[in-house]
Amino acid sequence: SSTPLKVAVTGAAGQIGYSLLFRLASGALGDRPVELRLLEITPALKALEGVVMELDDCAFPTLAGVEIGDDAEKVFDGVNLALLVGARPRGPGMERGDLLEANGAIFTAQGKALNKVAADDVRIGVTGNPANTNALIALSNAPDIPTDRFSALTRLDHNRAISQLAAKTGAPVTDITRMTIWGNHSATQYPDLFHAEVGGRNAAEVVGDQRWLEDDFIPTVAKRGAAIIEARGSSSAASAASATIDAARDWLFGSAKDDWVSMAVLSDGSYGVPEGIVSSFPVTTKDGDWEIVQGLEIDDFSRGRIDASTAELSEERATVTELGLI
Ligand code: NAI
Repeated sequence: SSTPLKVAVTGAAGQIGYSLLFRLASGALGDRPVELRLLEITPALKALEGVVMELDDCAFPTLAGVEIGDDAEKVFDGVNLALLVGARPRGPGMERGDLLEANGAIFTAQGKALNKVAADDVRIGVTGNPANTNALIALSNAPDIPTDRFSALTRLDHNRAISQLAAKTGAPVTDITRMTIWGNHSATQYPDLFHAEVGGRNAAEVVGDQRWLEDDFIPTVAKRGAAIIEARGSSSAASAASATIDAARDWLFGSAKDDWVSMAVLSDGSYGVPEGIVSSFPVTTKDGDWEIVQGLEIDDFSRGRIDASTAELSEERATVTELGLI
């Protein structure tokens, strides 16, 4: 259809926004025209106007319009896709609980606004950290939107894991399938090589090196964000934007045949992951719906890693419950 896809982006004047908006506007989600709805806090609106000037200057054929504002109910009106990128970064001396509370205020308000004004077919992807629990807060504050319309981004971790495995094995990234990130988008995440494949062969067997897997692969993927900050002097914004696009595109248009993607979604108890937390799973997607891949065998090593990460999510859930955010 040629009616524009209305895509909301929050934190649009931020680092990720500066990469994400140009990809969205230039057709990363397909040929259908896109109308961008950009939400920022009031002090960032001037900077955002500058970004809009640049969007104008690209003369993108697929960009049907841009609206900006600091009022979520106006910006989210009728949106089909909402990419919640803006979040409160951890400041000096801020504890984990303080971070959850500061972001809780943002994601309760945005959940309520989406509930009120988003289109009936809305899909909501949360990139802003702590992404999993921010998604839980948003969906808990949007009772009229089905919970399966919310997800949190672990696609960047997924892509990082693919890239590391490709480098280790010498295989092109296109040969690597069935990668899974389990759990939280945090240092406890578990990138799983026991179900991944390299050219159709089991990745753990192809690598054949449990030490590398435990001492190199998993920590490299889990700490990649910190390594990029260390090297670049600022955070991994372009790759985060790229992963945000990958996740949205696959959600709307489907994951590849015989493959799956990682997405953090509200747990239904699959694989013993406690219900009521937003945790990353292997999922297949089709036409805006997702399904958790079922029937994978989980050995003791994987079990321990999955449990450790989901325990962290349960703690985050307990904290935001105590704070009255969900
Ligand atoms: P940034 O600090 O450059 O930009 C964030 C923007 O959000 C700022 O412009 C700020 O004004 C805005 N903002 C804050 N509160 C807002 C609100 N209530 N409504 C609308 N906008 C608001 O940060 P950057 O680098 O763009 O990262 C954004 C978030 O994404 C951070 O939370 C970061 O930790 C997270 N992230 C997540 C990744 C993932 O894989 N899930 C990967 C990389 C970053």
